[in-house]
Amino acid sequence: MSEWTNERAIERWGTMPRKLLEDMAHDGDYAKRHLVNPVLLRLLGDVAGRRILDAGCGGGYLSRMLAARGAEVVGVEPGRSLFEFAAEREATAPQGIRYVRADLCDLPDLCDLPDLCDRFDAVVSSMVLPVIPDWTGAMRACVEHLRPGGLFVFTVNHPCFEQLAPTWRAHGEYRTRRYLAEYEIPGPSGANFHRPLSAYLNQLAALGCRLTEVAEPGLPPETPDAVEAYIHLPNFLIVAATTA
Ligand SMILES: C[S@@+](CC[C@H](N)C(=O)[O-])C[C@H]1O[C@@H](n2cnc3c(N)ncnc32)[C@H](O)[C@@H]1O
Repeated sequence: MSEWTNERAIERWGTMPRKLLEDMAHDGDYAKRHLVNPVLLRLLGDVAGRRILDAGCGGGYLSRMLAARGAEVVGVEPGRSLFEFAAEREATAPQGIRYVRADLCDLPDLCDLPDLCDRFDAVVSSMVLPVIPDWTGAMRACVEHLRPGGLFVFTVNHPCFEQLAPTWRAHGEYRTRRYLAEYEIPGPSGANFHRPLSAYLNQLAALGCRLTEVAEPGLPPETPDAVEAYIHLPNFLIVAATTA
């Protein structure tokens, strides 16, 4: 773990191939479509006219979904290929989304953007905190960019059931040997880092947030091509909280 820095993690994520970004451009991948997006949209509520920061927006699919529903969206993304893909989509099919290439732990003053101050009605950060070595700094930045009473929603791979689908395929059940320590989970696009569930929730409390909902979505069994593991166990943890 100690050899990881934000810069190194960003460099690795920033090489994500264009084909993968194109495949996810509309509404993400299978798991996002069936498990994450419906909960995120429900928790964010009616976004029309609301200012939303998509913190770690990747190729920008969620930013585009929110802008299509009337939100004023700023997407922050430091990875080169992801940022370029999101910006290119905005250039070819403008929705008024502003993209900023930056590390969440080192955000420029967003007030420099035309018509924008640095306080948002909502900050959404989907599958981002688990890829950032300095995740506590990133979570702090998310909360600090909310207006008083603003909504923070984040998603992570469920820390109790990481690598759920491949483990289930191999054993017909979920197995793990490690939980309490922080460790790296290498992936094809970049590294993820396991941290216990309590780490995320306690950091939220330390930042003065009030937890409003924790969701552990499961797949309805009647879903076409249902992944069996996702019917029985939650692949994601989705947390909503508000600032004081
Ligand atoms: C698993 S992807 C999720 C992307 C997007 N939120 C989505 O759901 O499709 C993780 C994203 O976090 C970005 N990321 C990595 N380090 C970051 C940092 N320090 N600040 C902001 N984003 C970061 C990566 O470049 C990548 O786009």
